[in-house]
Amino acid sequence: MMQPEYDIVVFGATSFVGQILTRYLLEQYGTGGTLRWAIAGRNESKLEATRAELGNAAADLPVVVADAGNESSLRAMVQRTRVVVSTVGPYALYGEPLVRVCAQEGTDYCDLTGEVQWIRQMIARYEDDARASGAHIVHCCGFDSIPSDMGVHFLQQQAMAQIGSACPTVKMRVRAAKGEFSGGTVASLMNVAKEAASDPALRKELANPFSLCPSGFKSSRRQPNVKSAEFDPDFGAWTAPFVMAAINTRIVHRSNAIQDAVYGQEFAYDEAMLTGKGLKGRLQGMAMAAGIGGFLAASAIAPTRWALETFVVPKPGEGPSRQSQESGFYDLRFVGHASDGRVIRTKVTGDRDPGYGSTGKMLGEAAMCLAFDAGEDRPGGFWTPSSYLGQKLIDRLQDNAGLRFEVLENR
Ligand SMILES: NC(=O)c1ccc[n+]([C@@H]2O[C@H](COP(=O)([O-])OP(=O)(O)OC[C@H]3O[C@@H](n4cnc5c(N)ncnc54)[C@H](OP(=O)(O)O)[C@@H]3O)[C@@H](O)[C@H]2O)c1
Repeated sequence: MMQPEYDIVVFGATSFVGQILTRYLLEQYGTGGTLRWAIAGRNESKLEATRAELGNAAADLPVVVADAGNESSLRAMVQRTRVVVSTVGPYALYGEPLVRVCAQEGTDYCDLTGEVQWIRQMIARYEDDARASGAHIVHCCGFDSIPSDMGVHFLQQQAMAQIGSACPTVKMRVRAAKGEFSGGTVASLMNVAKEAASDPALRKELANPFSLCPSGFKSSRRQPNVKSAEFDPDFGAWTAPFVMAAINTRIVHRSNAIQDAVYGQEFAYDEAMLTGKGLKGRLQGMAMAAGIGGFLAASAIAPTRWALETFVVPKPGEGPSRQSQESGFYDLRFVGHASDGRVIRTKVTGDRDPGYGSTGKMLGEAAMCLAFDAGEDRPGGFWTPSSYLGQKLIDRLQDNAGLRFEVLENR
């Protein structure tokens, strides 16, 4: 078969995060070298402006025009590449035609969606096509959910090597993080809150920790879920809900389910934020829980959603400054309890703000891993970062993207 023209096409290169991703690929891999790649989007002159901003180094970067709402333009783009990496979101609004075309054409695909209900629909509608064509579809390749999914994979690899079996209970706690939301992420979050407010079936689906597992997967273990300020004895500190837990936990459970319950049929996993010790930690936990609840409630109702969109949250296309991205970071702590009482503690850290600086690099390495490292012998279908990209992605993230995976304690 003839090789497609490109290894990777960045669809949505004009988006806030698409520009970070494009700059990262350019600085890391250049043009005219081993990586054959192009930037794509709906607006040629905007794409050319994006390329011009990157300076002379980007002068040879090809531009491909395709519109998320025009399937024949998407098909033409997809046929020219081995991998498409998409930052065109909210995905629930714009993403389906591209997933369909990739699944039909056998082109690998990765993105930054965190929209559980949309991922579920894509799996239901296109898994058969992807299996038949050999396309590997990997959603959630940004801060949600690479650090969580790869973090659990890393901890369980240690458990299996040291203890001989996976830990049936793992939790992740955000110890520290610095970064801002962008317009695109806020638009996606508000869109989910709006849809859920008017759809009880969707609310039920979003509350199901196993909603992304294949329908035959059964677990009777009640999943922990931090909904308000709670004391966590593993950390001797108070916790508050973590807004990304709603997607990360679903991806981690899917990783387990599609790998024949490699972490155990009754595996339990949850995520929360550490807010500190004593009364101060408790009060901070209560304030954070109330803040998250208030934002989601306000997003669900038309007048307050309008007020938020108009006066408070960043607009689509807006996001943190470069300086803010560079001074951002995150520090996630994992603890696993083995069946014999042993405890493993690990941590995952990133050197830029989670939602943009680090997300752009993680997404770039996920696309590179799809293009160059992942086994073509693995069947097509809807995978997760850890189940398909595994250790090779951890190596890339540590070598190139500023992430660290470390064991802190094994007793
Ligand atoms: N998972 C994570 O950790 C994470 C982190 C960051 C962002 N995200 C997600 O990534 C997505 C992008 O975020 P962002 O802040 O970068 O968004 P953004 O700046 O608002 O950009 C949206 C992009 O979509 C493009 N677009 C819209 N309609 C299109 C169409 N019909 N055809 C082709 N392109 C179209 C826009 O093109 P034009 O420039 O031509 O208008 C633009 O490139 C969001 O869904 C966000 O939730 C996830």
